[in-house]
Amino acid sequence: MKLIVCDSYDEMSKKAAEIVSDVINENPSAILGLATGSTPEGMYKELVEAYKDGKLDFSKVSTVNLDEYVGIDPSNPQSYQSFMNENLFDRVNINKENTHLPKEIGSLEESVKAYDKLLAEIGQRDLQLLGIGPNGHIAFNEPDEKLNMHTSIIDLKDETIEANSRFFDSKDDVPKQAMSMGMADIFNSKTLLVLASGKNKHKAVEKFMHTDKIETLFPMSFINLHPNCYLIVDKDAYQG
Ligand code: GLP
Repeated sequence: MKLIVCDSYDEMSKKAAEIVSDVINENPSAILGLATGSTPEGMYKELVEAYKDGKLDFSKVSTVNLDEYVGIDPSNPQSYQSFMNENLFDRVNINKENTHLPKEIGSLEESVKAYDKLLAEIGQRDLQLLGIGPNGHIAFNEPDEKLNMHTSIIDLKDETIEANSRFFDSKDDVPKQAMSMGMADIFNSKTLLVLASGKNKHKAVEKFMHTDKIETLFPMSFINLHPNCYLIVDKDAYQG
């Protein structure tokens, strides 16, 4: 794992955007695994700027996202679909038909199967972006006795509902479930790019730095298994 400690959130975002840009410039048909949350917002801004400056072309890029809330319409401003539209898809020349997020089609079981089928068809990604939850979750794979290999419906932990309530009017409005890519699919990528920013991630980053164990109760620990992984953190996440 390559650890990069940055002085600031902006530096982390620039560094992450550089890595993503290199992947796209090397392979204009790159397949990217994308993530949502406050952490990658700065990186998406950098990518949009690079596109506007004529340094990036998304016309042949395909994307798959890690997760989506259950019970929220894609047009809802709090959906991850809306997040992706606002932060990237509506701002660059990507073909929206080549962008994918988990979505509800019929029953939840059918929706899960459909996303797994899509991921199997798409195959290995060139890069998978990841954030972490304050409890060390990745995508919505919450600390648990077992973790899922493939797409599944996850009951969100109270701490995750609390952490994500800042995007909603109240904690009660936060969906209680999400559809999330599983661990095996997350790892089916040539490169993993994990970002952590802010003091509320320090506990997880510190635990990660000081453990030599892989624990399902700490999903972030699994990133140690990936042969080509970057962990980019800012000072606040690194030092607390
Ligand atoms: C959510 C998402 C994760 C994301 C995490 C951190 O729970 N499911 O994919 O990594 O939040 O989000 P933030 O960057 O806003 O702290």
